[in-house]
Formats: sequence, C-alpha cells, structure tokens
Amino acid sequence: MTQLLCEDLVLGYEGQAVVNGLSFQVNQGDYLFILGENGSGKSTLIKTLLRLIPPLSGKVELGGGLRADQIGYLPQQTPAQRDFPASVEEIVRSGCLNRMGRRPFYSRAEKAEAQADLERLGIAGLARRCYRELSGGQQQRVLLARALCAAQRVLLLDEPTSGLDPSAAREMYELIARLNREGLTVITVSHDLPAAARYASHVLHLAHRPLFFGPREAYLQSEVGRACLAMAKGEEDA
Ligand SMILES: Nc1ncnc2c1ncn2[C@@H]1O[C@H](COP(=O)(O)OP(=O)(O)OP(=O)(O)O)[C@@H](O)[C@H]1O
Ligand SMILES: [Mg+2]
Repeated sequence: MTQLLCEDLVLGYEGQAVVNGLSFQVNQGDYLFILGENGSGKSTLIKTLLRLIPPLSGKVELGGGLRADQIGYLPQQTPAQRDFPASVEEIVRSGCLNRMGRRPFYSRAEKAEAQADLERLGIAGLARRCYRELSGGQQQRVLLARALCAAQRVLLLDEPTSGLDPSAAREMYELIARLNREGLTVITVSHDLPAAARYASHVLHLAHRPLFFGPREAYLQSEVGRACLAMAKGEEDA
C-alpha cells in the first residue's frame, strides 16, 4: 500500500531550486534511506514531506489513509538543541502536541503513550532527568521516543545517529530496525552507507537531483552505490 507518492518534485526556498526532478514512492513497511552529501537537499526533502515548506512544483500525496498527524519526526540536531532545558518526560509528551489542537494539557492517554514509548526504547528510568544532562546517545533515544509518540504509522528521521559513537549508532539503528519490523514505515536521512546496506529496504540517493531510487539490492549493484560503498570501505580501512 502506497503511503507517500512524490511526483516531479522541485524543492527549494523562495523560488530557488535545491532539488530537481524528484519522483519516488514509499509503501507501508518500507525502510527508506535517503543518502547524499552535505547540502544535497536531504533535510529540505524531509521538511517538504512534513509540509513545513511547500514544494516549488510537483506533488506530494499521502495514500492508504495516512494522515499528516500520524507521521513522527526526529529533526536534525544542532548544538543549541542539545542544551534544551526540559525534562525527558516533557520532551517525549510534546510529541503529542500536534494531535492536541488547542487543548492546553496532556490527556491521561497521551501521558500513558509517552510512558509506553519510553519503556519501548528502554529509557523509562530517564523520565525525570533533565534532557541537557544526558549523553548524546540517550538524547537521541529521547527524541526517537518523542517521534514515536507522534507517529502512529510513519517515522521521519533526519540523521538519527549524528554525533553518536559507532556502538551507540549501531544500537540506535537496531532500535529503529525493530520498530520497522513491528510495522512502522521508516524514512531516515543518513551518511552511513554500511547502515543503509544492512538495514534499508529502499535507497534514495540525492545530489540536487535523484542519482538513484529503488530497492537496496539494486542500489548496491548500481554504479553510484558501488562507488559509494568502495569509498566507505576505503575510509574504514584507512
Ligand atoms: N531555510 C533555508 N533557506 C534557504 N536556503 C536553505 C534553507 N535551508 C537550507 N537551505 C539550502 O538548501 C540546500 C540544501 O540544504 P539541506 O539542509 O536540505 O541539505 P542536507 O542534504 O540536509 O545537508 P546536511 O547533510 O549538511 O544536513 C543548501 O544549499 C542550503 O544552504
Ligand atoms: Mg540535513
């Protein structure tokens, strides 16, 4: 079942195109990795999918009964955001905000949902801690729990492992893969090609235009996929 259909998209800001000629689709249960160099338009695409910015042209359609408020989002982190002075519990509950309309307090069900998501990710013990005192790995889990609180069906993750050491990054990818196996559709931006080779069902490789979109196996056989993997392997061996 198609949940997201993008056709002939041109993305950018104030009339200036950043990405051209982009068409792809995401089906329920997919795990799409979006790869590409710094500045290639990955975060711009995520923000367009979330309708935070309009496409310059083309269309983004939700399908299979998916509603925009069933999409959870983990934004790309900046150092200032890592210093956010709120409790873990508050941050995770705030994932419910876009379902609440004008109601100024969390319902019992929303509080229970936040608690369940903390437990699902193994961080219930951190609920009362202040977010900015946590390690980078713990902070990313908290943001994943927040996205889960919002996401009934789809998770959009913008570099969920940025700033994490290899073992924390691995744990994060394992968690995300588990959520995907449990039925959530996952779309993640990443610079980690070996992780894409291991976990992705599909790959979209951007360079201001799509260099590749398709199943992981086809990507790994493609010219662009082989070149990138060889480069990643070279870095590993160096
Ligand atoms: N709010 C904005 N207004 C104008 N231009 C922007 C804005 N945000 C991003 N850009 C430009 O759009 C281009 C793509 O940026 P984007 O953030 O999508 O890249 P990215 O692929 O996510 O890069 P990174 O890997 O560094 O996160 C860049 O040239 C960037 O300068
Ligand atoms: Mg980005």
